[in-house]
Amino acid sequence: MKILTVTGYKGGVGKSVTAVHLATFFSDLGNTVLVDGDPNRTSLGWNSRGKLPFTVAIVPSYPSREGEVMKKDLKLGGVPVFETMIRRTVGFPKAALAGVPIRDLDDRKAKSAWTDYKALGKEIMEMWQ
Ligand SMILES: Nc1ncnc2c1ncn2[C@@H]1O[C@H](COP(=O)(O)OP(=O)(O)OP(=O)(O)O)[C@@H](O)[C@H]1O
Ligand SMILES: [Mg+2]
Repeated sequence: MKILTVTGYKGGVGKSVTAVHLATFFSDLGNTVLVDGDPNRTSLGWNSRGKLPFTVAIVPSYPSREGEVMKKDLKLGGVPVFETMIRRTVGFPKAALAGVPIRDLDDRKAKSAWTDYKALGKEIMEMWQ
């Protein structure tokens, strides 16, 4: 299995268009899955409005159970995945609006999502050792 990640720091620079068209190219050569990591679900929407020549999937994070199932499948397929999943919470857009990391929000519930990034940071540090 080959994995290609289309990513970039800036918004609106053509990540989705590139992902859709590279997946179209590779779908002529073999089974191709586009995993849409964009919360706007651009590729998923593109596919649902018409028909793309490959599978479009999403990995929904906690509290959705599907994310766990997908993680298990990816691991079984030999894809390296982090154990930690970052929960979906309105705390993140709130933190962005407040201009602080989520741990500095004055909101106990939102703050608790910081534990996800702490766990992920630890995993990354272990990987680097
Ligand atoms: N080669 C191109 N020529 C003209 N328009 C393009 C081209 N590539 C992308 N676009 C247009 O630019 C806009 C941004 O592209 P796209 O949605 O792929 O960017 P993105 O990086 O995925 O954005 P976001 O950060 O919002 O997810 C879209 O309207 C898209 O149709
Ligand atoms: Mg996009």
